[in-house]
Amino acid sequence: MTQITTVTTAPIAGQKPGTSGLRKKTPVFMGRHYLENFIQATFDVVGCAGKTFVLGGDGRYFNDRAAQVILRMAAANGAARVIVGQGAILSTPAASHLIRLNGTDGGIIMSASHNPGGPEEDFGVKFNMPNGGPAPEGVTEAIYQRTTVITEYKVLEAQDVDLGSVGRHQLGAMVVDVVDPVADYAALMESLFDFPALKAIFAGGFRMRMDSMCAVTGPYAMEILENRLGAAKGTCVNATPLPDFGGMHPDPNPTWAEALMDEMFSAAAPDFGAASDGDGDRNMVVGRGIYVSPSDSLAVLAANAHLAPGYKAGLKGVARSMPTSAAADRVADALGIGKYETPTGWKFFGNLLDAGRATICGEESFGTGSDHVREKDGLWAILLWLNILAVRKQSVAEILQDHWAKYGRNYYSRHDFEAIETAKADAMFAALRGSLANLPGRVVEGMTITAADDFAYTDPVDGSVSMKQGVRVMFADGSRIVYRLSGTGTEGATLRVYLERYAAGPDGLDLDAQKALAPVIRAAHALAGIAAHTGRSAPDVVT
Ligand code: G1P
Ligand code: ZN
Repeated sequence: MTQITTVTTAPIAGQKPGTSGLRKKTPVFMGRHYLENFIQATFDVVGCAGKTFVLGGDGRYFNDRAAQVILRMAAANGAARVIVGQGAILSTPAASHLIRLNGTDGGIIMSASHNPGGPEEDFGVKFNMPNGGPAPEGVTEAIYQRTTVITEYKVLEAQDVDLGSVGRHQLGAMVVDVVDPVADYAALMESLFDFPALKAIFAGGFRMRMDSMCAVTGPYAMEILENRLGAAKGTCVNATPLPDFGGMHPDPNPTWAEALMDEMFSAAAPDFGAASDGDGDRNMVVGRGIYVSPSDSLAVLAANAHLAPGYKAGLKGVARSMPTSAAADRVADALGIGKYETPTGWKFFGNLLDAGRATICGEESFGTGSDHVREKDGLWAILLWLNILAVRKQSVAEILQDHWAKYGRNYYSRHDFEAIETAKADAMFAALRGSLANLPGRVVEGMTITAADDFAYTDPVDGSVSMKQGVRVMFADGSRIVYRLSGTGTEGATLRVYLERYAAGPDGLDLDAQKALAPVIRAAHALAGIAAHTGRSAPDVVT
Protein backbone atom coordinates (compact mmCIF):
# COMPACT_ATOMS: atom_id res chain seq x y z
CA MET A 1 0.00 0.00 0.00
CA THR A 2 1.23 3.45 -0.78
CA GLN A 3 0.08 6.40 1.21
CA ILE A 4 0.07 10.11 0.54
CA THR A 5 1.56 12.16 3.34
CA THR A 6 1.06 15.89 3.72
CA VAL A 7 4.17 17.39 5.29
CA THR A 8 4.06 20.69 7.13
CA THR A 9 6.72 23.08 5.90
CA ALA A 10 7.55 26.79 5.94
CA PRO A 11 8.88 29.15 3.25
CA ILE A 12 12.63 29.06 2.65
CA ALA A 13 14.15 32.35 1.52
CA GLY A 14 15.87 32.70 -1.84
CA GLN A 15 13.99 30.22 -4.01
CA LYS A 16 13.92 32.64 -6.91
CA PRO A 17 14.74 31.08 -10.28
CA GLY A 18 17.44 32.93 -12.24
CA THR A 19 18.35 32.95 -15.93
CA SER A 20 17.67 29.23 -16.13
CA GLY A 21 15.82 27.73 -13.17
CA LEU A 22 16.70 27.56 -9.49
CA ARG A 23 20.39 26.91 -8.92
CA LYS A 24 22.05 26.57 -5.55
CA LYS A 25 24.94 24.82 -3.89
CA THR A 26 24.13 21.11 -3.61
CA PRO A 27 24.06 21.10 0.22
CA VAL A 28 21.45 23.86 0.07
CA PHE A 29 19.31 21.80 -2.29
CA MET A 30 19.76 18.76 -0.05
CA GLY A 31 18.68 20.75 2.99
CA ARG A 32 15.46 19.93 4.81
CA HIS A 33 12.36 20.63 2.66
CA TYR A 34 14.39 22.66 0.14
CA LEU A 35 13.78 20.59 -3.00
CA GLU A 36 10.31 19.62 -1.77
CA ASN A 37 9.19 23.22 -1.26
CA PHE A 38 10.32 24.23 -4.74
CA ILE A 39 8.74 21.23 -6.45
CA GLN A 40 5.45 21.68 -4.57
CA ALA A 41 5.42 25.38 -5.46
CA THR A 42 5.98 24.40 -9.10
CA PHE A 43 3.13 21.89 -9.06
CA ASP A 44 0.89 24.41 -7.29
CA VAL A 45 1.52 26.91 -10.06
CA VAL A 46 1.53 24.71 -13.18
CA GLY A 47 -0.95 22.11 -11.93
CA CYS A 48 -0.23 18.42 -11.49
CA ALA A 49 -3.42 16.36 -11.20
CA GLY A 50 -3.99 14.19 -14.25
CA LYS A 51 -0.91 15.58 -16.03
CA THR A 52 2.00 13.96 -17.80
CA PHE A 53 5.53 15.25 -17.33
CA VAL A 54 9.02 14.44 -18.54
CA LEU A 55 11.76 14.12 -15.91
CA GLY A 56 15.51 13.84 -16.26
CA GLY A 57 18.77 15.54 -15.49
CA ASP A 58 22.42 15.80 -16.33
CA GLY A 59 23.49 13.07 -13.90
CA ARG A 60 25.26 15.34 -11.45
CA TYR A 61 25.53 14.50 -7.76
CA PHE A 62 22.05 14.25 -6.12
CA ASN A 63 20.39 13.83 -9.57
CA ASP A 64 19.25 10.27 -8.80
CA ARG A 65 17.88 10.98 -5.34
CA ALA A 66 16.20 14.21 -6.38
CA ALA A 67 14.47 12.29 -9.19
CA GLN A 68 12.98 9.85 -6.68
CA VAL A 69 11.68 12.69 -4.52
CA ILE A 70 10.16 14.45 -7.52
CA LEU A 71 8.49 11.21 -8.65
CA ARG A 72 6.98 10.60 -5.20
CA MET A 73 5.73 14.17 -5.08
CA ALA A 74 4.30 13.99 -8.61
CA ALA A 75 2.44 10.82 -7.64
CA ALA A 76 1.14 12.39 -4.43
CA ASN A 77 -0.04 15.45 -6.34
CA GLY A 78 -2.02 13.25 -8.71
CA ALA A 79 0.12 13.23 -11.88
CA ALA A 80 -1.05 10.59 -14.35
CA ARG A 81 2.31 9.72 -15.84
CA VAL A 82 5.97 10.70 -15.80
CA ILE A 83 8.38 9.82 -18.60
CA VAL A 84 11.87 9.49 -17.12
CA GLY A 85 15.18 9.01 -18.85
CA GLN A 86 16.88 5.77 -17.85
CA GLY A 87 19.01 6.38 -14.77
CA ALA A 88 17.18 9.73 -14.40
CA ILE A 89 19.41 11.00 -17.22
CA LEU A 90 18.29 13.30 -20.01
CA SER A 91 20.25 16.02 -21.73
CA THR A 92 18.37 19.30 -21.67
CA PRO A 93 17.69 19.28 -25.44
CA ALA A 94 16.62 15.62 -25.27
CA ALA A 95 14.19 16.48 -22.46
CA SER A 96 12.80 19.34 -24.53
CA HIS A 97 12.33 16.95 -27.45
CA LEU A 98 10.57 14.32 -25.30
CA ILE A 99 8.16 16.94 -23.95
CA ARG A 100 7.21 17.90 -27.51
CA LEU A 101 7.27 14.40 -29.00
CA ASN A 102 4.93 13.03 -26.35
CA GLY A 103 2.73 16.11 -26.16
CA THR A 104 3.23 16.26 -22.40
CA ASP A 105 2.25 19.02 -20.00
CA GLY A 106 5.87 20.00 -19.51
CA GLY A 107 8.89 18.62 -17.75
CA ILE A 108 11.27 18.99 -14.87
CA ILE A 109 14.98 19.16 -15.66
CA MET A 110 17.57 18.69 -12.95
CA SER A 111 20.72 20.54 -13.88
CA ALA A 112 22.99 23.42 -13.05
CA SER A 113 24.15 23.37 -16.67
CA HIS A 114 27.84 24.22 -17.00
CA ASN A 115 28.44 24.72 -13.27
CA PRO A 116 30.56 22.04 -11.57
CA GLY A 117 28.74 19.21 -9.80
CA GLY A 118 29.42 17.30 -6.60
CA PRO A 119 28.57 17.33 -2.90
CA GLU A 120 30.00 20.86 -2.51
CA GLU A 121 29.24 22.16 -5.99
CA ASP A 122 26.02 23.13 -7.74
CA PHE A 123 22.59 21.64 -8.30
CA GLY A 124 19.52 23.02 -10.03
CA VAL A 125 15.94 22.39 -11.05
CA LYS A 126 13.81 24.03 -13.70
CA PHE A 127 10.38 23.59 -15.20
CA ASN A 128 9.84 23.48 -18.95
CA MET A 129 6.51 24.23 -20.56
CA PRO A 130 4.44 22.02 -22.89
CA ASN A 131 6.23 23.65 -25.87
CA GLY A 132 9.47 22.15 -24.51
CA GLY A 133 10.98 25.48 -23.53
CA PRO A 134 11.98 26.96 -20.17
CA ALA A 135 9.13 28.52 -18.22
CA PRO A 136 8.76 32.22 -19.00
CA GLU A 137 9.31 34.84 -16.32
CA GLY A 138 5.59 35.08 -15.48
CA VAL A 139 5.62 31.41 -14.47
CA THR A 140 8.97 31.39 -12.66
CA GLU A 141 7.93 34.50 -10.74
CA ALA A 142 4.64 32.84 -9.74
CA ILE A 143 6.58 29.78 -8.56
CA TYR A 144 8.86 32.01 -6.55
CA GLN A 145 5.91 33.84 -4.99
CA ARG A 146 4.40 30.48 -4.10
CA THR A 147 7.61 29.45 -2.30
CA THR A 148 7.23 32.49 -0.08
CA VAL A 149 3.86 31.37 1.30
CA ILE A 150 4.10 27.57 1.17
CA THR A 151 2.86 25.71 4.24
CA GLU A 152 2.80 22.06 3.17
CA TYR A 153 3.80 19.61 0.48
CA LYS A 154 2.55 16.21 -0.54
CA VAL A 155 4.67 13.11 -0.93
CA LEU A 156 3.91 9.46 -1.48
CA GLU A 157 5.28 6.99 1.02
CA ALA A 158 6.85 4.46 -1.32
CA GLN A 159 10.09 2.75 -2.25
CA ASP A 160 12.34 4.07 -5.01
CA VAL A 161 11.24 3.36 -8.56
CA ASP A 162 13.74 1.23 -10.49
CA LEU A 163 15.06 3.75 -13.01
CA GLY A 164 17.88 1.48 -14.10
CA SER A 165 16.11 -0.29 -16.92
CA VAL A 166 13.72 0.77 -19.64
CA GLY A 167 10.10 -0.15 -18.97
CA ARG A 168 6.84 0.74 -17.27
CA HIS A 169 6.42 1.00 -13.50
CA GLN A 170 3.61 1.99 -11.20
CA LEU A 171 4.06 4.48 -8.38
CA GLY A 172 0.79 4.59 -6.48
CA ALA A 173 -1.75 5.52 -9.14
CA MET A 174 0.91 7.14 -11.35
CA VAL A 175 2.61 5.47 -14.31
CA VAL A 176 6.38 5.87 -14.61
CA ASP A 177 7.77 5.14 -18.05
CA VAL A 178 11.53 4.76 -18.05
CA VAL A 179 12.82 5.44 -21.57
CA ASP A 180 16.13 5.23 -23.41
CA PRO A 181 17.48 8.81 -23.06
CA VAL A 182 19.24 8.73 -26.44
CA ALA A 183 17.00 6.93 -28.96
CA ASP A 184 14.38 9.58 -29.76
CA TYR A 185 16.95 12.37 -29.76
CA ALA A 186 19.25 10.48 -32.12
CA ALA A 187 16.31 9.85 -34.46
CA LEU A 188 15.54 13.57 -34.46
CA MET A 189 19.13 14.38 -35.42
CA GLU A 190 18.98 11.80 -38.18
CA SER A 191 15.87 13.52 -39.56
CA LEU A 192 17.62 16.92 -39.71
CA PHE A 193 21.08 16.09 -41.02
CA ASP A 194 22.50 14.22 -43.98
CA PHE A 195 23.77 11.16 -42.12
CA PRO A 196 24.92 9.37 -45.33
CA ALA A 197 27.10 12.40 -46.22
CA LEU A 198 28.48 12.51 -42.68
CA LYS A 199 29.19 8.78 -42.77
CA ALA A 200 31.02 9.29 -46.04
CA ILE A 201 33.40 11.93 -44.66
CA PHE A 202 34.23 9.78 -41.63
CA ALA A 203 34.76 6.79 -43.93
CA GLY A 204 37.05 9.01 -46.00
CA GLY A 205 39.31 9.64 -43.01
CA PHE A 206 37.86 12.85 -41.56
CA ARG A 207 39.01 13.03 -37.96
CA MET A 208 37.12 14.58 -35.09
CA ARG A 209 37.50 14.96 -31.33
CA MET A 210 34.33 15.24 -29.28
CA ASP A 211 34.87 16.13 -25.62
CA SER A 212 31.77 15.53 -23.49
CA MET A 213 33.60 16.76 -20.37
CA CYS A 214 32.39 13.75 -18.29
CA ALA A 215 28.90 15.16 -18.59
CA VAL A 216 25.59 14.17 -20.10
CA THR A 217 26.30 14.16 -23.85
CA GLY A 218 28.72 11.22 -23.61
CA PRO A 219 26.14 8.52 -24.45
CA TYR A 220 24.50 10.74 -27.08
CA ALA A 221 27.80 11.52 -28.81
CA MET A 222 28.90 7.87 -28.72
CA GLU A 223 25.66 6.67 -30.28
CA ILE A 224 25.49 9.33 -32.97
CA LEU A 225 29.14 9.92 -33.87
CA GLU A 226 30.80 6.56 -33.34
CA ASN A 227 27.89 4.09 -33.70
CA ARG A 228 25.68 5.68 -36.34
CA LEU A 229 28.15 7.83 -38.29
CA GLY A 230 31.17 5.56 -38.05
CA ALA A 231 33.59 8.09 -36.58
CA ALA A 232 36.78 6.33 -35.45
CA LYS A 233 36.74 4.68 -32.04
CA GLY A 234 38.12 7.14 -29.54
CA THR A 235 36.57 10.14 -31.31
CA CYS A 236 34.46 10.70 -28.20
CA VAL A 237 36.43 11.40 -25.03
CA ASN A 238 35.28 12.00 -21.45
CA ALA A 239 32.15 10.24 -22.63
CA THR A 240 30.97 8.67 -19.37
CA PRO A 241 28.75 11.02 -17.35
CA LEU A 242 30.05 11.25 -13.77
CA PRO A 243 28.31 12.75 -10.71
CA ASP A 244 31.17 15.22 -10.23
CA PHE A 245 32.06 15.46 -13.94
CA GLY A 246 35.38 13.90 -13.03
CA GLY A 247 36.25 17.11 -11.20
CA MET A 248 36.00 19.03 -14.48
CA HIS A 249 34.22 22.31 -14.91
CA PRO A 250 31.86 21.17 -17.68
CA ASP A 251 31.74 24.48 -19.51
CA PRO A 252 32.87 24.20 -23.13
CA ASN A 253 35.01 27.29 -23.57
CA PRO A 254 38.71 27.78 -24.25
CA THR A 255 39.48 28.08 -20.54
CA TRP A 256 37.70 24.97 -19.28
CA ALA A 257 38.03 22.80 -22.39
CA GLU A 258 41.75 23.40 -22.37
CA ALA A 259 42.73 19.85 -23.33
CA LEU A 260 40.62 20.07 -26.48
CA MET A 261 42.07 23.48 -27.33
CA ASP A 262 45.63 22.17 -26.87
CA GLU A 263 44.93 19.23 -29.14
CA MET A 264 43.29 21.37 -31.82
CA PHE A 265 46.28 23.71 -31.88
CA SER A 266 48.85 20.88 -31.92
CA ALA A 267 50.62 19.37 -34.94
CA ALA A 268 48.46 16.23 -34.68
CA ALA A 269 45.17 18.15 -34.57
CA PRO A 270 42.15 16.39 -36.06
CA ASP A 271 39.98 18.18 -38.64
CA PHE A 272 37.30 19.24 -36.22
CA GLY A 273 36.93 19.53 -32.47
CA ALA A 274 33.87 20.06 -30.30
CA ALA A 275 32.81 20.04 -26.67
CA SER A 276 29.55 20.31 -24.80
CA ASP A 277 28.52 21.22 -21.29
CA GLY A 278 27.05 19.60 -18.18
CA ASP A 279 23.52 19.22 -19.52
CA GLY A 280 24.34 19.15 -23.24
CA ASP A 281 22.80 22.41 -24.39
CA ARG A 282 26.05 24.31 -24.94
CA ASN A 283 28.72 23.71 -27.54
CA MET A 284 32.15 24.91 -28.52
CA VAL A 285 33.55 24.18 -31.98
CA VAL A 286 37.19 24.42 -32.96
CA GLY A 287 38.90 23.89 -36.28
CA ARG A 288 42.47 22.76 -36.78
CA GLY A 289 44.41 25.70 -35.38
CA ILE A 290 41.38 27.98 -35.23
CA TYR A 291 38.83 28.74 -32.53
CA VAL A 292 35.28 29.61 -33.57
CA SER A 293 33.70 32.23 -31.35
CA PRO A 294 30.08 31.39 -30.54
CA SER A 295 28.86 34.60 -32.15
CA ASP A 296 30.69 33.69 -35.36
CA SER A 297 29.43 30.13 -35.11
CA LEU A 298 25.83 31.39 -35.03
CA ALA A 299 26.46 33.55 -38.08
CA VAL A 300 28.15 30.74 -40.03
CA LEU A 301 25.38 28.28 -39.14
CA ALA A 302 22.72 30.78 -40.20
CA ALA A 303 24.49 31.46 -43.50
CA ASN A 304 24.92 27.76 -44.30
CA ALA A 305 22.00 25.97 -42.64
CA HIS A 306 20.26 25.43 -45.98
CA LEU A 307 22.99 22.89 -46.78
CA ALA A 308 21.44 20.48 -44.26
CA PRO A 309 18.25 18.62 -45.23
CA GLY A 310 16.27 19.86 -42.22
CA TYR A 311 16.79 23.49 -43.24
CA LYS A 312 16.87 23.24 -47.02
CA ALA A 313 13.78 25.45 -47.32
CA GLY A 314 15.77 28.29 -45.74
CA LEU A 315 15.37 30.13 -42.47
CA LYS A 316 12.44 32.25 -41.32
CA GLY A 317 14.59 34.45 -39.15
CA VAL A 318 17.60 34.56 -36.86
CA ALA A 319 17.49 35.59 -33.21
CA ARG A 320 20.39 36.38 -30.93
CA SER A 321 20.70 37.55 -27.35
CA MET A 322 21.62 41.21 -26.98
CA PRO A 323 25.21 40.62 -25.77
CA THR A 324 25.87 38.29 -28.75
CA SER A 325 27.77 40.00 -31.57
CA ALA A 326 25.94 41.46 -34.54
CA ALA A 327 27.60 38.99 -36.96
CA ALA A 328 24.34 37.05 -37.32
CA ASP A 329 22.44 40.26 -38.12
CA ARG A 330 24.61 40.76 -41.19
CA VAL A 331 23.68 37.28 -42.41
CA ALA A 332 19.98 37.91 -41.77
CA ASP A 333 20.19 41.16 -43.72
CA ALA A 334 21.92 39.42 -46.63
CA LEU A 335 19.30 36.65 -46.64
CA GLY A 336 16.48 39.18 -46.33
CA ILE A 337 15.02 37.41 -43.30
CA GLY A 338 13.95 38.63 -39.85
CA LYS A 339 16.49 39.37 -37.13
CA TYR A 340 15.74 39.64 -33.42
CA GLU A 341 17.71 40.85 -30.41
CA THR A 342 16.48 39.40 -27.12
CA PRO A 343 17.62 39.54 -23.49
CA THR A 344 20.05 36.91 -22.23
CA GLY A 345 18.53 33.48 -21.62
CA TRP A 346 17.01 30.91 -23.95
CA LYS A 347 13.50 31.45 -22.64
CA PHE A 348 13.25 34.66 -24.65
CA PHE A 349 13.57 32.73 -27.92
CA GLY A 350 10.54 30.52 -27.19
CA ASN A 351 7.88 32.87 -28.48
CA LEU A 352 9.84 33.68 -31.65
CA LEU A 353 10.28 29.97 -32.37
CA ASP A 354 6.66 29.10 -31.54
CA ALA A 355 5.40 31.94 -33.73
CA GLY A 356 7.57 30.81 -36.65
CA ARG A 357 9.48 34.08 -36.72
CA ALA A 358 12.92 32.62 -36.06
CA THR A 359 14.38 29.27 -37.12
CA ILE A 360 17.87 29.58 -35.63
CA CYS A 361 18.84 31.25 -32.37
CA GLY A 362 22.06 31.76 -30.52
CA GLU A 363 23.89 33.28 -27.60
CA GLU A 364 27.52 34.29 -27.18
CA SER A 365 27.64 31.92 -24.21
CA PHE A 366 28.17 28.86 -26.43
CA GLY A 367 24.47 28.30 -27.04
CA THR A 368 22.99 27.64 -30.47
CA GLY A 369 19.81 25.92 -31.50
CA SER A 370 16.82 25.88 -33.78
CA ASP A 371 13.09 25.29 -33.85
CA HIS A 372 13.61 21.49 -33.62
CA VAL A 373 13.38 21.82 -29.80
CA ARG A 374 12.92 24.73 -27.40
CA GLU A 375 16.32 24.65 -25.76
CA LYS A 376 19.73 25.34 -27.11
CA ASP A 377 21.33 22.15 -28.33
CA GLY A 378 25.04 21.40 -28.25
CA LEU A 379 25.14 18.26 -30.37
CA TRP A 380 22.74 19.78 -32.87
CA ALA A 381 25.17 22.66 -33.48
CA ILE A 382 28.08 20.25 -33.76
CA LEU A 383 26.20 18.08 -36.27
CA LEU A 384 25.16 21.12 -38.32
CA TRP A 385 28.79 22.18 -38.50
CA LEU A 386 29.70 18.64 -39.61
CA ASN A 387 26.99 18.73 -42.26
CA ILE A 388 28.31 22.05 -43.57
CA LEU A 389 31.89 20.76 -43.59
CA ALA A 390 30.74 17.64 -45.46
CA VAL A 391 28.92 19.62 -48.16
CA ARG A 392 31.41 22.47 -48.59
CA LYS A 393 34.45 20.20 -48.41
CA GLN A 394 36.45 23.02 -46.84
CA SER A 395 38.23 23.31 -43.52
CA VAL A 396 36.79 25.24 -40.59
CA ALA A 397 39.46 27.92 -41.17
CA GLU A 398 38.52 28.29 -44.84
CA ILE A 399 34.84 28.58 -44.00
CA LEU A 400 35.49 31.27 -41.40
CA GLN A 401 37.81 33.22 -43.71
CA ASP A 402 35.20 33.11 -46.50
CA HIS A 403 32.59 34.27 -44.06
CA TRP A 404 34.61 37.26 -42.85
CA ALA A 405 35.59 38.19 -46.39
CA LYS A 406 31.92 38.37 -47.31
CA TYR A 407 30.40 39.96 -44.21
CA GLY A 408 33.31 41.59 -42.38
CA ARG A 409 34.36 40.42 -38.94
CA ASN A 410 32.83 41.25 -35.58
CA TYR A 411 35.77 40.81 -33.24
CA TYR A 412 34.29 39.63 -29.99
CA SER A 413 35.18 38.59 -26.47
CA ARG A 414 33.59 38.25 -23.07
CA HIS A 415 35.48 38.97 -19.86
CA ASP A 416 34.08 37.51 -16.64
CA PHE A 417 34.93 38.72 -13.15
CA GLU A 418 33.70 36.02 -10.79
CA ALA A 419 32.62 35.90 -7.14
CA ILE A 420 32.68 39.66 -6.62
CA GLU A 421 31.09 40.86 -3.41
CA THR A 422 27.47 41.52 -4.31
CA ALA A 423 27.39 44.95 -2.67
CA LYS A 424 30.44 46.09 -4.66
CA ALA A 425 28.97 44.86 -7.93
CA ASP A 426 25.67 46.56 -7.16
CA ALA A 427 27.44 49.82 -6.37
CA MET A 428 29.34 49.65 -9.65
CA PHE A 429 26.12 49.16 -11.59
CA ALA A 430 24.36 51.93 -9.73
CA ALA A 431 27.16 54.33 -10.64
CA LEU A 432 27.27 53.10 -14.24
CA ARG A 433 23.51 53.41 -14.68
CA GLY A 434 23.67 56.87 -13.16
CA SER A 435 26.29 57.95 -15.69
CA LEU A 436 24.49 56.75 -18.83
CA ALA A 437 22.79 60.03 -19.71
CA ASN A 438 26.14 61.82 -19.79
CA LEU A 439 27.99 59.33 -21.95
CA PRO A 440 26.87 60.14 -25.51
CA GLY A 441 29.38 62.44 -27.16
CA ARG A 442 32.20 61.48 -24.82
CA VAL A 443 35.43 60.22 -26.41
CA VAL A 444 37.21 57.27 -24.81
CA GLU A 445 40.32 55.64 -26.26
CA GLY A 446 39.77 57.73 -29.38
CA MET A 447 36.26 56.33 -29.88
CA THR A 448 33.16 58.51 -29.67
CA ILE A 449 30.19 57.20 -27.69
CA THR A 450 26.99 57.51 -29.71
CA ALA A 451 24.49 55.93 -27.32
CA ALA A 452 24.29 54.33 -23.87
CA ASP A 453 21.30 52.63 -22.29
CA ASP A 454 19.98 49.82 -20.14
CA PHE A 455 18.56 47.25 -22.55
CA ALA A 456 14.80 46.75 -22.40
CA TYR A 457 12.94 44.23 -24.52
CA THR A 458 9.38 44.11 -25.68
CA ASP A 459 8.48 40.63 -26.87
CA PRO A 460 7.03 41.10 -30.38
CA VAL A 461 4.72 38.12 -29.93
CA ASP A 462 3.09 38.62 -26.53
CA GLY A 463 4.07 42.22 -25.80
CA SER A 464 5.68 41.39 -22.45
CA VAL A 465 8.38 43.82 -21.37
CA SER A 466 11.69 42.92 -19.69
CA MET A 467 13.64 45.83 -18.23
CA LYS A 468 17.24 46.29 -17.08
CA GLN A 469 18.71 43.52 -19.21
CA GLY A 470 22.23 44.93 -19.42
CA VAL A 471 24.01 48.24 -19.85
CA ARG A 472 25.07 48.97 -23.42
CA VAL A 473 27.59 51.54 -24.61
CA MET A 474 27.73 52.04 -28.37
CA PHE A 475 30.50 53.80 -30.30
CA ALA A 476 30.58 55.63 -33.62
CA ASP A 477 32.88 53.04 -35.23
CA GLY A 478 30.42 50.20 -34.52
CA SER A 479 32.23 49.04 -31.39
CA ARG A 480 30.14 48.13 -28.38
CA ILE A 481 30.54 47.34 -24.68
CA VAL A 482 27.85 45.53 -22.67
CA TYR A 483 27.88 45.06 -18.90
CA ARG A 484 25.65 42.53 -17.11
CA LEU A 485 25.54 40.63 -13.88
CA SER A 486 25.16 36.88 -14.25
CA GLY A 487 21.81 35.39 -13.32
CA THR A 488 23.10 31.84 -12.99
CA GLY A 489 25.96 32.15 -10.50
CA THR A 490 25.67 30.73 -7.00
CA GLU A 491 28.45 32.65 -5.28
CA GLY A 492 28.52 36.44 -4.95
CA ALA A 493 28.15 38.33 -8.21
CA THR A 494 29.70 37.59 -11.58
CA LEU A 495 30.30 40.62 -13.77
CA ARG A 496 30.22 39.90 -17.49
CA VAL A 497 31.73 42.45 -19.84
CA TYR A 498 31.00 41.85 -23.52
CA LEU A 499 33.33 43.50 -26.02
CA GLU A 500 32.82 43.94 -29.74
CA ARG A 501 34.50 45.74 -32.63
CA TYR A 502 33.63 45.53 -36.31
CA ALA A 503 36.20 45.29 -39.09
CA ALA A 504 34.75 45.60 -42.58
CA GLY A 505 37.83 44.17 -44.31
CA PRO A 506 39.43 43.31 -46.63
CA ASP A 507 42.36 44.20 -44.38
CA GLY A 508 42.58 43.48 -40.67
CA LEU A 509 40.42 40.35 -40.63
CA ASP A 510 43.05 38.04 -39.14
CA LEU A 511 44.00 39.69 -35.88
CA ASP A 512 44.04 38.07 -32.48
CA ALA A 513 40.68 39.00 -30.93
CA GLN A 514 42.15 40.31 -27.65
CA LYS A 515 44.59 42.52 -29.56
CA ALA A 516 41.91 43.79 -31.93
CA LEU A 517 39.72 44.61 -28.94
CA ALA A 518 42.41 46.22 -26.78
CA PRO A 519 41.05 49.80 -26.97
CA VAL A 520 37.50 48.58 -26.31
CA ILE A 521 38.73 46.61 -23.29
CA ARG A 522 40.52 49.67 -21.89
CA ALA A 523 37.41 51.77 -22.46
CA ALA A 524 35.28 49.18 -20.66
CA HIS A 525 37.48 49.40 -17.58
CA ALA A 526 37.61 53.19 -17.66
CA LEU A 527 33.88 53.78 -18.13
CA ALA A 528 32.74 51.46 -15.34
CA GLY A 529 35.66 51.90 -12.95
CA ILE A 530 35.85 48.13 -12.60
CA ALA A 531 39.06 48.10 -10.56
CA ALA A 532 38.00 50.96 -8.30
CA HIS A 533 34.66 49.35 -7.49
CA THR A 534 35.56 45.67 -7.36
CA GLY A 535 39.30 45.60 -6.76
CA ARG A 536 39.69 43.48 -9.90
CA SER A 537 41.82 44.62 -12.79
CA ALA A 538 41.90 41.38 -14.77
CA PRO A 539 39.10 38.95 -15.63
CA ASP A 540 38.94 35.38 -14.29
CA VAL A 541 37.66 33.90 -17.54
CA VAL A 542 38.11 35.19 -21.07
CA THR A 543 36.09 33.66 -23.88
C1 G1P B 1 24.45 32.34 -18.69
C2 G1P B 1 24.69 32.85 -20.08
C3 G1P B 1 23.38 32.92 -20.84
C4 G1P B 1 22.72 31.55 -20.80
C5 G1P B 1 22.60 31.05 -19.37
C6 G1P B 1 22.06 29.62 -19.31
O1 G1P B 1 23.59 33.23 -17.99
O2 G1P B 1 25.31 34.12 -20.08
O3 G1P B 1 23.61 33.33 -22.16
O4 G1P B 1 21.46 31.60 -21.39
O5 G1P B 1 23.86 31.08 -18.74
O6 G1P B 1 22.90 28.73 -19.95
P1 G1P B 1 24.12 34.35 -16.99
O7 G1P B 1 24.98 33.66 -15.97
O8 G1P B 1 24.95 35.29 -17.82
O9 G1P B 1 22.89 34.99 -16.45
ZN1 ZN C 1 23.82 23.95 -20.13
